Amino acid sequence: MILNSLFAQNKKMKNKLAFTGILILFVIIFNACEKFLPSAPEADSVMDAPIDGLTYEQNKLFLEGAEEFDEVYTTETGLGPLFVSTSCGSCHAGDNRGHPFTALTRFGQSDTTGNKFLDFGAPQIQHRALPGFVGETIPNGATSSKFLAPIASGVGFLELVSDEDILAMSDPLDQNGDGISGVPNWNTIPGWVKPFKDAKVKNGKYICRFGRKGATYNLHQQVAGAFNNDMGITTTFLPNNPFNYLTGTQPAPPSEPEITDASVNGVVFYLQTLQAPIQRNMDDEEVMKGKAVFKSIGCENCHKETLKTGPSPLKGLNQVEFHPYTDLLLHDMGAELNDSYTEGSALASEWRTTPLWGLGLSADAQGGKVFLLHDGRAHSISEAIQYHGGEGDKSRKNFTDLTESDRNALIKFLESL
Ligand code: HEC
Ligand code: HEC
Repeated sequence: MILNSLFAQNKKMKNKLAFTGILILFVIIFNACEKFLPSAPEADSVMDAPIDGLTYEQNKLFLEGAEEFDEVYTTETGLGPLFVSTSCGSCHAGDNRGHPFTALTRFGQSDTTGNKFLDFGAPQIQHRALPGFVGETIPNGATSSKFLAPIASGVGFLELVSDEDILAMSDPLDQNGDGISGVPNWNTIPGWVKPFKDAKVKNGKYICRFGRKGATYNLHQQVAGAFNNDMGITTTFLPNNPFNYLTGTQPAPPSEPEITDASVNGVVFYLQTLQAPIQRNMDDEEVMKGKAVFKSIGCENCHKETLKTGPSPLKGLNQVEFHPYTDLLLHDMGAELNDSYTEGSALASEWRTTPLWGLGLSADAQGGKVFLLHDGRAHSISEAIQYHGGEGDKSRKNFTDLTESDRNALIKFLESL
C-alpha cells in the first residue's frame, strides 16, 4: 500500500517534471522566434491609420475607402483606355511622398491666359494605353513639368483650413518687408465641385490649395480628377474618357460611370480621416535646437508650423491645431525651379509651400532614398534647400552660413517630422 502510494507519487513528480520541461522549452522557442518575427510598426512610423475618435461606422467607411485607394484597376473594372497608373496606392505608396517612377507629366500652359494645348489633351499626359489605343506624347511647342505625388497623410486637416486663415498668411505686396509675399492660387472650379460655406470668391475664382501648384480646390475634386486623369476611370462627375487627340482615337464614353459616387466619396472620406504624420523625438535636445534654427533663419515664414482646422462634424478634425509646416500659399522660388508651366493663377516659378510633415519617413516610401521638390530632383534635404531661390533665397543663404553644428541640428529636426 505504502509502496504503491510512493510509486504513484513518484509518477506524479515525473509528470510534473516533464510538464515543466516542456513549458521551459516552449518559452525558449517562443523567445527565440520573437527575435525573428516582425513586430507591429510603431504608430509614429506609419501614416495610413485613421484619426482618433471615429465611430465604428466611420472606421468601417475608412477601411472601405482604404481598400478602394489600393485597388488595382483592370480593363474589366474601368481602367483606361488611356492612363498613367493602375491604382492610387501605386503612386501614393504608404501615403507618403511618391517616387519618380510614377511621376505625372503636365504640359501646355505657359501663361495665365489659359492653356493653349487643351485640344492636344493638355494639361496631363496619359502615356500608357490599353491594346488598340495609343498613349499620348507631348505635342510640339508645349512646355512641360514633372510632378511627384505629394504626401497624402494629413490632407483632411489641410482641407479644413479656412480661406480667411490662408489669406491672413498671404502678403502679396510684401508689406512686412521680409522678401516673402505668398499668394493663394485663385482658380476657377468645375460646376460639380461644391464650394465651402465660408469660401472667398474673387471674379468667380476660388482659393485652391491641393497639388504642387495649389490649383485644385478640395479633396472631392482631387479624387474624381485622379480617377479620370490618372487611371482613365469615369464617374458621374467626369463622365468622359481621356483620349489621344494626336491620333484621334476617341473612345466612346461608357454608357454609365465606371465607378459609383459611393466609391469616390469613400476615397474622399479615407483621405479626410487619414491621420497626420506624427513627429518623432520631439523632446530630443538637438531636435529642439534644430527647430529654433529653422525658425531663426526664416524657414517658418513659408513652412508655417501650426495651422488650425475650421468646424467639422468629425471630432478629431473639429477646430484642432496641427503642424504641417506649410502656409498653403504659392511662392516665387526663382529661375532654377521655373519649369515654364503654369496652372490656375500659379506662375511658372511659383509653387505651393510643400508641407514638411512626414519628411523623415519619406525614404521608407521612396525605396530607401529621398526624392524631394515637385519633380524629385533633390536627393537630400540639404539639396532641396539649395534649390530655394526667389522668395526662398534669403533663407537659403542663411542655411549656407550656418555653423556645422546648427546645420546638423536643423537636418535632425527636419528628419524628426
Ligand atoms: C500616376 C500617379 C498618381 C496616381 C495614380 C494618383 N495620384 Fe494623387 N497625386 C499624384 C501627383 C503627381 C499629385 C500632384 C498633382 C498636382 O500637383 O496637381 C497628386 C496629388 C494628390 C493629392 C493632393 C495632395 C496635396 O497635398 O496636394 C491627393 C489627395 C491625391 N493625389 C490623392 C489621390 C487619389 C485618391 C488617387 C486615386 C483615385 C490618386 N491620387 C492617384 C500622383 C498620383
Ligand atoms: C519663400 C518660401 C519658402 C521658404 C522661406 C522656405 N521654403 Fe522650403 N519650400 C518652399 C516651396 C514653395 C517648396 C516647393 C518647391 C518645389 O517643389 O519646387 C519648398 C520645398 C522644401 C523642401 C522639400 C520638401 C519635399 O517634400 O519635397 C524642403 C526640405 C524645404 N523646403 C525646407 C526648407 C527649409 C529648411 C527652409 C529654411 C532654410 C525653407 N524650406 C525655406 C517654400 C519655402
